[in-house]
Amino acid sequence: MQTPAGTLALKVGGPTQLMLERVGGSCYPIHPLWLRERCRDAASMDLKTQQRLADPSDIDLDVKIVALAQPAPGSFRIKFSDGHEALFSAADILEEAALAPNSHDCPAPQLWDGTLGELPRARWRADPSEAERLSWLQAFLTLGFVIFEGVPTQPGSVLKVGAMFGFTRETNFGALFDVRSTPNATDLAYTSVSLDPHTDNPYRAPVPGIQLLHCLVNETSGGLSTLVDGFAVAESLRAHDPAAFAVLANTPVRFKYIDAHAELTASAPPIELDVTGALKSIHFSPRLDFVPLFPPETLDTYFRARRQFDQRLRAPDFEIRFLLGAGDLVMFDNCRLLHGRTGFDPSEGLRHLQGCYIDIDGPRSLYRVLRRCGAQHGSLRRSA
Ligand SMILES: [Fe+2]
Repeated sequence: MQTPAGTLALKVGGPTQLMLERVGGSCYPIHPLWLRERCRDAASMDLKTQQRLADPSDIDLDVKIVALAQPAPGSFRIKFSDGHEALFSAADILEEAALAPNSHDCPAPQLWDGTLGELPRARWRADPSEAERLSWLQAFLTLGFVIFEGVPTQPGSVLKVGAMFGFTRETNFGALFDVRSTPNATDLAYTSVSLDPHTDNPYRAPVPGIQLLHCLVNETSGGLSTLVDGFAVAESLRAHDPAAFAVLANTPVRFKYIDAHAELTASAPPIELDVTGALKSIHFSPRLDFVPLFPPETLDTYFRARRQFDQRLRAPDFEIRFLLGAGDLVMFDNCRLLHGRTGFDPSEGLRHLQGCYIDIDGPRSLYRVLRRCGAQHGSLRRSA
């Protein structure tokens, strides 16, 4: 049996061997223990929760396949040396074998830069079809953001939009926060100055994964929202200056926030990788970062690398700008994208946004559930 893409196939390698074949590539026997711990019968797992009933580390490390049969096309009956016997679906084995080690079985990111002409925009509907939700999620998961238009401008609406995709991450700023210029601001976000690209709350553990910003009023001509794909910038740095990339991926930086009621601190490298070396998260906020006191030569290389990264992040080559008008809401991946805004003149009028955070895994979970239900996604309008 082959996967739809035709890149993987299962074949019987002998009376006690099942082989995985990568078309045009490698072919190897599937480890018996890998199969044994995937038995999906009622003796091995709770069929309702699909959770194992026993610890797989207790399975004999030398477990073997002692009999292999194909009762029907696309299924295998396997008997193991510990006496257990189970039926396997070839489709299930291939589906899991097709996953890359760091795959989240969701649409892969499509990196973008300042030439991204058409922005993912959608008309907000409080009761969307499954196809609409899937198209919103597709845009969010690939590009890292989506802009909704026509979100009711009643205060608190941002929480309703967030609830469509995940669970609100309440912080010391509350369930939602207001972004407008105020006297005696505790954060520069609450002034009218321009904000360079940054990720929010790198001082928090865990970092809020997704941010939503909803414009209730904007009577100013400035205050454009800016977004930068941090993954695209990081990959550009990896390609052009691998040494700088390596320094930023391996230097823990301490981030700190302090006000009258909270003192938050967390450490993370500016470019966080997963165990395969793929990009996992960007932590970057030049107003809040404090590198530890390493020896001078180490700091020399760090400061040079940080400058390289920062200059790329602020370059117009990577940035997109757009105006959030009343009723517009942007939802973006705070682990991948950096956001900012241009300055504005508060004497022109009001500019009032409300924001909230939701956890990073909400949209991915919803995407999988909708796909499992068989929803087909429609098309999303893309416009500048
Ligand atoms: Fe921010």
